[in-house]
Amino acid sequence: MKHFTSVKDMGPLDKAIQEALNIKKQKYAASDLGKNRTALLIFFNSSLRTRLSTQKAAENLGMHVIVLDVQQGAWNLETRKGIIMDGDKPEHLLEAIPVMGCYADMIGVRSFARFQSKEEDYGEVILNQFIQYSGKPVISLESATRHPLQSFADHITIEEYKTTDRPRVVLTWAPHPKALPQAVPNSFAEWMVAAGYQLTITHPKGYELDESFTQGAKITYNQQEAFRDADFIYAKNWSAYRDPGYGRILSTDRSWMVDGKKMELTNNALFMHCLPVRRNMIVTDEVLDSPRSIVIPQAANREIAAQVVLGRILKGLPKNE
Ligand code: CP
Repeated sequence: MKHFTSVKDMGPLDKAIQEALNIKKQKYAASDLGKNRTALLIFFNSSLRTRLSTQKAAENLGMHVIVLDVQQGAWNLETRKGIIMDGDKPEHLLEAIPVMGCYADMIGVRSFARFQSKEEDYGEVILNQFIQYSGKPVISLESATRHPLQSFADHITIEEYKTTDRPRVVLTWAPHPKALPQAVPNSFAEWMVAAGYQLTITHPKGYELDESFTQGAKITYNQQEAFRDADFIYAKNWSAYRDPGYGRILSTDRSWMVDGKKMELTNNALFMHCLPVRRNMIVTDEVLDSPRSIVIPQAANREIAAQVVLGRILKGLPKNE
């Protein structure tokens, strides 16, 4: 594996799942693989799970890890090309990226959609600059349009808990007070279809996702109909994708919150969310605190997903001098 930015970089998914389950049994079996190798994890946005799980996975493989928060301690970075740099950003990504490449064997990047330009967000301008200028393998730690390490962990979790070959998985929009990117739902939809599950996406009118991510999924505005007979309920908020409302909140309709009554419509479904989750906005305490919630084992699988990806990248690196 050279870079990891989407499910397309993963190869056959059954093989990836088997690898993940093997690693889960023996997390430290390859603790020499990353000897004298450095992972740089750069965060343009906040993180709890991605930061900790990726660092832990790298350490399980014997790597050194450097974490850089752009907002805290690093120079504020300019990302636009051709700009006169007379503002508050003293360094450009065009220098910063190759410099980072000098100190690292691979670079993980978290850079969310900024909602200033849909073209820039969906063109993955920041992530692609890292791929173009670092000279090193790049791992998405959630980009503007995808969160593939999360989706891989979601896939591992469903494989562990499913009771039928092709479970019915429902991705439901839920209300949130802030405008959130579409990266998690895009990535989840794309990955679940690739995994061969029966995916239904439900959301209020106006929240249609980019069809290139949702092809193969059933889409309905009727949340209760979607929940009927579901095996897994995956809740997530996202802002509008379609123009003219790109990046905006169109609805805060609390009736879309996941609650116990809706869960009763399902096939005794398990509840999933990538976290962080807003209690009693996205999902009620009752559901989140119930035995049907698997959000913690789902988060634990972030470490395993990251270890598969980092391990594969390490195996593809040229020999250390
Ligand atoms: N799910 C997830 O990516 O969590 P963090 O934003 O805390 O990393």
